[in-house]
Amino acid sequence: MCSIIMDKDGDFQVSNFKNSLGYYYFRKVGPGKLEYKICNQIIQKPHQNIVKFYIVNSISLDMEILQTPISINGESQALKLITDMIGARNYLLENGIVYVDWKLDNIGWSETDNVFKLFDFDLAGTFDSKTNKWIDEPDKLFAYKNAMENDIFDPVGVDSFNFNIMVNELLIEH
Ligand SMILES: Nc1ncnc2c1ncn2[C@@H]1O[C@H](COP(=O)(O)OP(=O)(O)O)[C@@H](O)[C@H]1O
Ligand SMILES: [Mg+2]
Repeated sequence: MCSIIMDKDGDFQVSNFKNSLGYYYFRKVGPGKLEYKICNQIIQKPHQNIVKFYIVNSISLDMEILQTPISINGESQALKLITDMIGARNYLLENGIVYVDWKLDNIGWSETDNVFKLFDFDLAGTFDSKTNKWIDEPDKLFAYKNAMENDIFDPVGVDSFNFNIMVNELLIEH
């Protein structure tokens, strides 16, 4: 085992260091301002279907190493992934966070906990759950852009639109 460091350009380096808790870690260097803010919120209130953050600051995010990329074999694994991600999504929405960028690339498998976990909050935002209005709006790229092209602009709508695409693809393929 080793720790993995991903720099701002997406290049990877490995190291033998463990963190102060004695774990190897995945380090994402140079998080966006909003990504850092959201991860800082999550580290204070973790969830079993979201990657476990060890240390979060504006320079880098240190988290548990997950198995990526995942490959889904069969219906029961697809259903497990969907169930786990419904858990992650409900938790995030209850805590004012809109994930938006739902895709298998951003989900890993935890061998220790036997669950799928979500990571990469680069394109997530925050919202007011009473009014369904954006507080911190993420960059209007990819998933968000795709929702807007379908006349969906509100936080929960944008999130649902992309979550449903991921779920539908999984159900069709398995
Ligand atoms: N905690 C992790 N454990 C293992 N691999 C990870 C982890 N976080 C990210 N990765 C790997 O790095 C890639 C890019 O990380 P990600 O946070 O998704 O950044 P980007 O914003 O570039 O998509 C992921 O697709 C995955 O392969
Ligand atoms: Mg990603």
